[in-house]
Amino acid sequence: MPKNILIAYFSHGGENLVDDQIVDLGDEGNTKIAAKKLAALLGEKGIKANLFEIEPLIPYDRSYEGTLARSRQEYQDGAAPLINDGPNGYEAYDLIFLGYPNWWGTIPAPILSFLRDHDLKGKTIIPFVTHGGQRFL
Ligand SMILES: Cc1cc2nc3c(=O)[nH]c(=O)nc-3n(C[C@H](O)[C@H](O)[C@H](O)COP(=O)(O)O)c2cc1C
Repeated sequence: MPKNILIAYFSHGGENLVDDQIVDLGDEGNTKIAAKKLAALLGEKGIKANLFEIEPLIPYDRSYEGTLARSRQEYQDGAAPLINDGPNGYEAYDLIFLGYPNWWGTIPAPILSFLRDHDLKGKTIIPFVTHGGQRFL
């Protein structure tokens, strides 16, 4: 059983597409909700996991269209935007749940940044993905 568990996630609050309509879903995106549920479920089993939100230094637009436009450009450029430091004590984690939404059939650019910024050697990574019904390309 791993000793130190981290749940690192990226999630975009604000507007999203729901049944082909743009809806403001509030400050907590789907992946953030899933990450918190995962922490709570583990907690019920007596397993402690720390949550860490991956945040780009320049936040995405709250609007769906704005986020779509920026992320499309990042996807085309293979960009890895600057993200926040942390989590504290990263080296000690041996199991990392890594959560993110499916963006353009792949990982969002801030996840690429996280993977580039952090040494994953010797750690077990378990990805979890929220999506709008499509698969990874
Ligand atoms: C920029 C952008 C691109 C997306 N691309 C896809 C996609 O390719 N396939 C898919 O199934 N859903 C796609 N979605 C929908 C999200 O994956 C889905 O709404 C997800 O649950 C959002 O998580 P969040 O609220 O934590 O950001 C996209 C959403 C956005 C904003």
